[in-house]
Amino acid sequence: MTTDTPTTPAVRVRDLRRVFGDRAVLDDLELDIARGEFVALLGASGSGKTTLLRILGALDGADGGEVLVPEARTIVFQEPRLVPSKKVLANVTVALPRSRSAHGLRALAEVGLERHADAWPATLSGGEAQRVALARALVREPELLLLDEPFAALDALTRLKMQDLVGELCRIHRPAVLLVTHDVDEAVRLADRVAVLRDGRLITDETVTVDRPRDPGNPAFAALRRRLLGDLGVAAPPQPVPAPVEPTPGRTEVGVI
Ligand SMILES: Nc1ncnc2c1ncn2[C@@H]1O[C@H](COP(=O)(O)OP(=O)(O)OP(=O)(O)O)[C@@H](O)[C@H]1O
Ligand SMILES: [Mg+2]
Repeated sequence: MTTDTPTTPAVRVRDLRRVFGDRAVLDDLELDIARGEFVALLGASGSGKTTLLRILGALDGADGGEVLVPEARTIVFQEPRLVPSKKVLANVTVALPRSRSAHGLRALAEVGLERHADAWPATLSGGEAQRVALARALVREPELLLLDEPFAALDALTRLKMQDLVGELCRIHRPAVLLVTHDVDEAVRLADRVAVLRDGRLITDETVTVDRPRDPGNPAFAALRRRLLGDLGVAAPPQPVPAPVEPTPGRTEVGVI
């Protein structure tokens, strides 16, 4: 029997196996996520990332192994999946116990959309709709937040803003997080740990030690990016050598994300 103590991980996966046809997409996969820990999962297309996420979210079953996840868990997908016939606030509180429905407005405020509470989903931009999906996930106070490429459909600037928002909200609410992404920089910017899924298991599972706020220009950031791209079978592009800049007297240049 497992006793649930503060040191028990939020997620514990052992020997996980998922087979489609004659292919074991997940093959003896092992993963722990501590409470409040943010793990980013990278892997080539078709490597099994969504399959793993769906199993952790109980949307799919396993063919073998052990999966322990908290009861309170929510998933945000690449598309916001809002109900078009419900207004924004009703989308956030959909299927929420009545005792918690008052929290919907607060969740919308956290993602900066309280003024859109009475709007229809069709009137929202892609980034706004995804923020509603995030509010809908967070209002349930999940102990495990599963994010499947939640920023992939957004333009580059909106994506950076969403990354900051998710990072900040996760620091406030402290769910355990599994973020699936194809974006190595996004993974290194946000995560406490990064993992790479290949051939059914995690071939990399590494704590990110780069100082926050994480600057892609930081040599430790660049070195980790190179290693991860190598694990993904992609050669890292050569880093441009910056031209020397004369410092402005009285000012200090700092890294900006
Ligand atoms: N229900 C299913 N039936 C049969 N094959 C499936 C099923 N679900 C997934 N697969 C196969 O399992 C493999 C892994 O799929 P999965 O969606 O997990 O990949 P992924 O890593 O999320 O890829 P992407 O980065 O493109 O989203 C793929 O080859 C896919 O075709
Ligand atoms: Mg996927």
